[in-house]
Amino acid sequence: ASASGATTDAFIGCLAAAGVPPHLVQTPASPSYAALLLSSGRNLRYVAPGTARPLAIVAAAEPAHAQAAVVCGRRHGVRLRVRSGGHDYEGLSYSSLDPRERFAVLDLAALRGVRVDAAHAEAWAESGATLGEVYYAVGAASPALAFPAGVCPTVGVGGHISGGGFGTLMRRYGLAADNVLDAVLVDADGRLLNRTTMGEDLFWAIRGGGGESFGVVLSWKLRLVPVPETVTVFTVHRSRSQSASDLITKWQEIAPALPRDLILRVVVQNDHAQFEALFLGRRGRLLDHMGAHFPELGVTAADCEEISWIRSTVYFAFYSSANPLELLLNRTGETGRFFKGKSDYVQEPIPRDAWERAWSWLEKPEAGLLILDPYGGRMHSISPSATPFPHRKGNLYNLQYYSYWFENGTAAVEKRMSWVRGLYKEMEPYVCRNPRTGYVNYRDLDLGTNELEGNVTSYAKGRIWGEKYFKGNFERLAAVKATVDPDDFFRNEQSIPPLPAAK
Ligand code: FDA
Repeated sequence: ASASGATTDAFIGCLAAAGVPPHLVQTPASPSYAALLLSSGRNLRYVAPGTARPLAIVAAAEPAHAQAAVVCGRRHGVRLRVRSGGHDYEGLSYSSLDPRERFAVLDLAALRGVRVDAAHAEAWAESGATLGEVYYAVGAASPALAFPAGVCPTVGVGGHISGGGFGTLMRRYGLAADNVLDAVLVDADGRLLNRTTMGEDLFWAIRGGGGESFGVVLSWKLRLVPVPETVTVFTVHRSRSQSASDLITKWQEIAPALPRDLILRVVVQNDHAQFEALFLGRRGRLLDHMGAHFPELGVTAADCEEISWIRSTVYFAFYSSANPLELLLNRTGETGRFFKGKSDYVQEPIPRDAWERAWSWLEKPEAGLLILDPYGGRMHSISPSATPFPHRKGNLYNLQYYSYWFENGTAAVEKRMSWVRGLYKEMEPYVCRNPRTGYVNYRDLDLGTNELEGNVTSYAKGRIWGEKYFKGNFERLAAVKATVDPDDFFRNEQSIPPLPAAK
């Protein structure tokens, strides 16, 4: 057998000896391997022929299977790519840039229970659950509770909370990671730890320090937050010819300063800007706020819809509140796409003429879109070192450049990727620089990738990309890594390197 065949056999033998049923372990020879690899792998750029494939996929059905994968992986030189929802922008949960890497995917999709304790406003969610499954369970348990997390219902809880996680409730309640009370994690020695046994440093690191680096988080205890039984939403479109540039220019100062019960985000695409709002209250008060703070947008009562919070999650995902709530439980969502994203933080309003230049990019045939998520409110009152996520006070909004497409082939990929990179370059003078920061959940390998120094990831090289996501928190993340995984078992192209011991 080849060296890699022998490694695979030893790894699989070890899993079987540890009690993992053989049908939960798929190798490229298994008929269901390809379908399982694709099942939640979102980005076709990383499943194209030529991409390094896992030597096995372990579909854990209980915590002990994840522990076995760690122990056997370490023993037999097989690294793990942990996958919850598979939405990683650069496919890091199911592929590797290094064609020689021997790795298995530890797929947590079957570990997806959500248990809500409405009386205590708490829930336990397993990492393989999707945000939609969490929202559905919370909504079913109480019309007055919610969980603050991202907009897309197929995103996995595991990766999302690991990187922070923001959505329509962030201005009132902060990130998903800001609302975690406890967690259960498999560490690099295969032990199952909770908040008490892992200690506060590791508990700090897993709430925003990015997935993969510190262990496998199996479940999260969430703090649920109160919401009124009726909230109000609207979506209005304003075209470029109807003064969208003026409105966006003005929005930059208004949106981060609005009352914290109100979020007004913007999606800019083709020739128009789409303003989307969620208000934790009734229509009348929302119209008062809009009239007082942003009359130029011209929002009317007819634009507004009063619904429950759980319906608002359907509304923002599918742009219609009429869809059945069960759509939140559809785990497959929009697969079969190629995509690329990049992000910036904006600290000073971008001038109108720069928006005009951005439009000329948005009107190109190969254009993608921009998403502007305003911070302020609760996001600004949390200290930048409270969690690894450092983008708090001082940041007006997160600016995301995003493109998705369906055509295969190098030319299509190149054309779309250069659009995203070109517009990102165009905006450089106007965004947070030194360093130019970004959001780890919008992972972007253009910011830099890890290199080895000896047998562990280089801290000096890692700082190049790491301080862009984590600023001053990067060093503390590396110190935690050095304590909990000094051999650097859990690693990928952008995992946290262990901080070298002081010489
Ligand atoms: P995936 O399983 O790919 O994991 C991501 C990373 O975390 C990988 O490195 C993986 O190895 C690691 N990981 C996964 N599970 C782990 C676990 N249990 N323990 C340790 N490490 C683990 N974000 C946001 O804040 N707000 C939003 O509204 C959206 N919307 C959105 C829409 C769409 C269409 C996409 C594709 C993405 C977003 N995101 C987002 C970004 C999203 O938060 C980010 O991609 C998450 O990391 C995805 O988590 P998954 O579990 O799905 O990814």
